[in-house]
Amino acid sequence: MSINGNSILLRAIERDDLKLLHLWANNESIQLMLGGWHFPTNMNDQYTWFENLSCNSLNQRFIVENEAKQPIGLANIININFKDGNAEIGLLLDGQFQGKGYGKKIVEAISDYAFFQLRLNRLETTIISINQPSLKLFLNKCGWKQEGILRSWYYRNGTYIDKIILSKLKEEHSNQFL
Ligand SMILES: CC(C)(COP(=O)(O)OP(=O)(O)OC[C@H]1O[C@@H](n2cnc3c(N)ncnc32)[C@H](O)[C@@H]1OP(=O)(O)O)[C@@H](O)C(=O)NCCC(=O)NCCS
Repeated sequence: MSINGNSILLRAIERDDLKLLHLWANNESIQLMLGGWHFPTNMNDQYTWFENLSCNSLNQRFIVENEAKQPIGLANIININFKDGNAEIGLLLDGQFQGKGYGKKIVEAISDYAFFQLRLNRLETTIISINQPSLKLFLNKCGWKQEGILRSWYYRNGTYIDKIILSKLKEEHSNQFL
């Protein structure tokens, strides 16, 4: 199965995708904008990571495909908490597919899936404050709300940078496909 959005879909990660994931994992401009960090990774790290993926996990990661069936990025829904009905989401797009409106389609598709298939009630994401495209995407284009700022949480290129916490509740979300 896959998760269908508006002219995109989210599908399971296959072994053939690992070279692309390896490129994204070592791409400095993408990684600077993400919250996590790691040392440079090799293909072996990538295979080990892949072997540990499970469709039963409460941390799910997907390849995003566009209409032409090209893999354009990654999306995730992690820390799924069915007891309290919440989870965190995230995404990244390959550089050549940024700035084309895919970000909104991905956030909407994963939100529809979380609220209307998994029956979650609240989604959260955290963003490094220098990531203006991501803040614009979630706040302006997708109607998320800013909840708080964790000051000087990240350290990047000699500077401490704030972490912004955003969320969306099911009651604030309308399913574009219903
Ligand atoms: C963040 C990301 C998902 C946004 O998706 P996208 O499809 O590229 O989104 P858009 O291009 O529509 O950009 C969103 C908005 O940010 C704006 N923007 C782009 N670059 C900007 C910049 N340097 N400064 C300020 N705003 C910027 C865009 O103009 C757009 O607003 P607009 O439609 O009103 O013009 C994508 O750029 C990406 O994958 N970046 C790298 C990884 C990443 O940051 N992931 C998110 C981690 S929280």
